[in-house]
Amino acid sequence: MSRLAGKTALVTGSATGIGHAVAARFAAEGARVVIADRDGEAAEAAAAGIGADRARAAVLDISQEDSVASAFAELEGAGWAPDVVVANAGVQLFGQDAKAAELDLDVWRRTVDVNLTGTFLTIKHAVRSMLPRGGGSIVLTGSPTGLNGEGADFTAYSATKAGIHGLARTVAAAYAKENIRVNTVVPAYTETSLVTTITSDPEARAAIIGRIPLGRAGAPRDVEGIMVFLASDDGAFATGSLFAVDGGMTTL
Ligand SMILES: NC(=O)c1ccc[n+]([C@@H]2O[C@H](COP(=O)([O-])OP(=O)(O)OC[C@H]3O[C@@H](n4cnc5c(N)ncnc54)[C@H](O)[C@@H]3O)[C@@H](O)[C@H]2O)c1
Repeated sequence: MSRLAGKTALVTGSATGIGHAVAARFAAEGARVVIADRDGEAAEAAAAGIGADRARAAVLDISQEDSVASAFAELEGAGWAPDVVVANAGVQLFGQDAKAAELDLDVWRRTVDVNLTGTFLTIKHAVRSMLPRGGGSIVLTGSPTGLNGEGADFTAYSATKAGIHGLARTVAAAYAKENIRVNTVVPAYTETSLVTTITSDPEARAAIIGRIPLGRAGAPRDVEGIMVFLASDDGAFATGSLFAVDGGMTTL
């Protein structure tokens, strides 16, 4: 369990959910990890849970460029510049995201600001930090909603995830010669605090699990292995690709 020995990894949105599972697994694989989240208290607790020698918290709001830039500058100053960046933080505004004709512009903008602009800003500052150090690996968290029509009410969310998938391919092509790899991981419906609206509604939950051929919801641990592969040197020839770990959801 030391596939990431010697690497430093920053995971956005890792105070909880998928990001937290990935950061904890990265630490178990030998990396130093930065728990980067807008929830400072939860980020500190998550870092403490992994251990002060292995993890530190960085409080940032990915939708704000100065916040992202100063987090990277602070890490560089502290000798924690990341070799691996997982741009994972995201929001899904259940009850507000809606079919296009009913979708409020403010809800659209709030979703785009975090999921798409925030992912772009994370990539931008990750690339700037990696270029002078000879490269690195960037992994984005995509979604089946960016590939298929997964929910009539998921207009803004789906658009941002499709945008993320495109962003990964473009940035991968642009920086391949500089040895910066960029890939997207697509989890299926995964039971975290993001989706309590679905988890707490037995009918909605059964309907979404019914669309997963392997017949169960995803768990955060389901995406850890592919993230380790893409972050590690095992993934050295993988760039610009999309890796679904979704119980077969996107085959339908
Ligand atoms: N849960 C699912 O079913 C599912 C499926 C496919 C993709 N995803 C994607 O996986 C990623 C993680 O989702 P999750 O289910 O673990 O969600 P989660 O709500 O459990 O965790 C999201 C984390 O992101 C942080 N965050 C939100 N906005 C932020 C911002 N502006 N700046 C910094 N941090 C911010 C939150 O504080 C939280 O810690 C998201 O991009 C989500 O879209 C989730």
